[in-house]
Amino acid sequence: MALVVALTGGSGFIGGQIARMLVAQGCTIRALSRKQSGFNQGVEWVRGSLESPRALAELMAGANVVVHCAGAVRGRNAQSFHEVNVQGSRRVMDAARNSGTCERFLHMSSLAARYPDLSWYSKSKFDAEQQVLSAAGHVKVGIFRPTAVYGPGDQELQPLFSWLLRGLLVRLGTTESHLSFVHVFDLTAAVLQWISSPTAKPATYEISDGTLGGYSWKGLAKIGADIREASVRQIPVSIALLQGIARVNLALSYLIRRSPMLTSSKVNELIHCDWTCSNRDITNAIGWMPRITLRRALQDRLF
Ligand SMILES: NC(=O)c1ccc[n+]([C@@H]2O[C@H](COP(=O)([O-])OP(=O)(O)OC[C@H]3O[C@@H](n4cnc5c(N)ncnc54)[C@H](OP(=O)(O)O)[C@@H]3O)[C@@H](O)[C@H]2O)c1
Repeated sequence: MALVVALTGGSGFIGGQIARMLVAQGCTIRALSRKQSGFNQGVEWVRGSLESPRALAELMAGANVVVHCAGAVRGRNAQSFHEVNVQGSRRVMDAARNSGTCERFLHMSSLAARYPDLSWYSKSKFDAEQQVLSAAGHVKVGIFRPTAVYGPGDQELQPLFSWLLRGLLVRLGTTESHLSFVHVFDLTAAVLQWISSPTAKPATYEISDGTLGGYSWKGLAKIGADIREASVRQIPVSIALLQGIARVNLALSYLIRRSPMLTSSKVNELIHCDWTCSNRDITNAIGWMPRITLRRALQDRLF
């Protein structure tokens, strides 16, 4: 199938890598952005937002596949996440269904959607999935639930890994926590495989780097120590301190007029003790398997 892809979130971290990968594969791409800037070569940018049905209709014209990767990952309250992630996703699906050309819709959700009661973000990602599925009509929907994504262009995990390689690991949550990660190159490969595979079925897929049982904080420290051939010191941050920083951060966000990442709601995600998942369903469905472990990514500085 010659892929004409309508992409949202192409100016962001994950969407930007998806755009690059699709261009490299020779797909035709039309991408929505509120900004002028973005990855330019081979992408036709459509100026507009998830709030604009007109821009979304323009984005969809002639597209047989939609990759919906735009989303709010920071916000001050439940409503701000709901407006972008739930209502925005609904508008994207309505435009895709009404286009008459869209056959497949890949919705970038999050592993957080597994726990809707955990945070404003997780609730919005879960509700968005429900909205997209209920409005799909004849459109085939794939829902991806990646765990924490890292790689070139990421700003959230990058400091954690950089400090780890300098010998300091800031530990959030309990020592028993199990984390998981996936490299953005592996995630984008999964996107390409799902949108182009003839056997891709409408389903929800959890996605990680495949490390069984995930990573404990101790395991992360060991990886860092092995790579730097020197010890790594863990610096525990208590929940009370995190909540305090979150309160200050929220207040500051009003002053600097920027949506905050760390809020009391986000703290619940950070200290959640089990972020492990299995790639079994997606591997069975389309044969995708991750190639990049965290150890390799840190060793080769792929972040
Ligand atoms: N990063 C992770 O670890 C991770 C893990 C699991 C799932 N996800 C999901 O992956 C998706 C992308 O995340 P990311 O880390 O790449 O985030 P990001 O770098 O913040 O990118 C977010 C993208 O969404 C766009 N966007 C936000 N609100 C919009 C609106 N109202 N109208 C149009 N575009 C809007 C942004 O466009 P502008 O450039 O115009 O602001 C940007 O392109 C999100 O849905 C997120 O929930 C991320």
